Amino acid sequence: VKLQNILGSDDLNAIADEALLVSLLRSRAVRDLELELFFTRLRAALLDAANMEPPPQITPLVLQLCCALAEQCFINEYIFSVSDAEFDAVERLSQHVTTAITAGREVAPMRVAVLGSYRPLLTLAPDLESQRWPKPVDDLITQQVREPRSEASELADIPALTPIVDSVSLNVQRQYETNPFPRWTYISPVRSTPIEAYLQDKLSIAPDGLPSDANGFDTLIAGCGTGGHAILRAQLFPRSRFLAIDLSRASLAYARRKTREAGIDNIAYGQADVLELGSIGRSFDVIESIGVLHHLSDPLAGWRVLLSLLRDNGLMAIGLYSAAARRSISTIRDDIARRGIAPSAAEIRAYRQDLINRGLIPHVADFFNMSGCRDLLFHVMEHQFTIPQIKAFIDEHGLTFLGFEQSKEVVTQFRQLHPDPAAISDLDCWHRFELSNPRTFLAMYVFWVQKMRR
Ligand SMILES: C[S@@+](CC[C@H](N)C(=O)[O-])C[C@H]1O[C@@H](n2cnc3c(N)ncnc32)[C@H](O)[C@@H]1O
Repeated sequence: VKLQNILGSDDLNAIADEALLVSLLRSRAVRDLELELFFTRLRAALLDAANMEPPPQITPLVLQLCCALAEQCFINEYIFSVSDAEFDAVERLSQHVTTAITAGREVAPMRVAVLGSYRPLLTLAPDLESQRWPKPVDDLITQQVREPRSEASELADIPALTPIVDSVSLNVQRQYETNPFPRWTYISPVRSTPIEAYLQDKLSIAPDGLPSDANGFDTLIAGCGTGGHAILRAQLFPRSRFLAIDLSRASLAYARRKTREAGIDNIAYGQADVLELGSIGRSFDVIESIGVLHHLSDPLAGWRVLLSLLRDNGLMAIGLYSAAARRSISTIRDDIARRGIAPSAAEIRAYRQDLINRGLIPHVADFFNMSGCRDLLFHVMEHQFTIPQIKAFIDEHGLTFLGFEQSKEVVTQFRQLHPDPAAISDLDCWHRFELSNPRTFLAMYVFWVQKMRR
């Protein structure tokens, strides 16, 4: 497709008619670099067109594609690369739209759609509600104006459960206030499942002596971020009662909006620092903290606080980064630190593009949106672990290791090497396995432990 001649071309109409592509754009961050490049160029071509006077006539299908592209850019938090010429052109377009709306003149819907593909429409000064828009533009306004406003209105209602005083916690909080993570859009609904069946499926063994979930569990989600994990759990275990805490109010506001929209009423959210949770006077049957402790100044101190809140026989799920799996990520993080690259949107975008140009692409989903990229490569605090370190903590605190959450493929491979059924919950065997398969825990180690009554 020749992008400079694209408007009105059959090619563009054919692309706009691809319902699956439009759905992809609207539902999750695109994770394919060829598609990313195509959409980056298409966006630039649409920007030139939108600045023409008068703007070109486009078909409803092409307008729908422009809006879907803008939704995509909002979902990936404007990660696509932007040239200096585009920056200037976006400024011109923004002024044009602002002046027209302020003067009460009709604005071409395409102009609003293209603007929303470069910056959130909430940043426009005048109110877009003064004009009636075609459905795709109205949906875009919901995504980029109404939903963020609804989150902002949640902020005041989030209770602060503990003080936040630790200097690392304050830095981490700042990161996630600017870039709440993960910026999920949809999660597929899941069916309610007994905890035994759930753990059997995830850990590939049937742990004995689990507490009864007949009346549900009191569950703490420590470091709930934007709530996806808590919502999934509330669907899986609808009889349970959840407290979900995080440092970041912006993340909690996102979580609360999504929870309300999903019609879920058994999650209470609060702002708290894991390190301070000892002061809330609560205890829990289940505590989950996935991808959180490795961002604390002292992860093991945080883990001890969580253990102090766990009831006898209670279950705990922990997610920690693996040093072996993150070796190549660490090389990139070291490069960022050496070059003093700041975690601003512009610098993240430019550095990411540089990685793409050099073919150094981390093959993880987080690379394809802004908050993910910041979380993955630019985090203000990251600790990494080895299995022997985890084992030492578990042994020191008399915990029972139940198993790692792992894919069936990895479990099959593991069992070929360690056929004894008991090996699946033997950390020494897993350590040996990881030494020869260092990418096994690329996402992170996610494992369950139980605090047996002594
Ligand atoms: C990588 S995100 C993971 C979010 C969520 N657990 C998930 O799996 O989607 C890490 C989250 O931990 C939170 N966090 C980090 N340190 C924390 C602390 N000391 N107390 C509470 N939350 C913390 C951050 O604010 C952030 O939302």
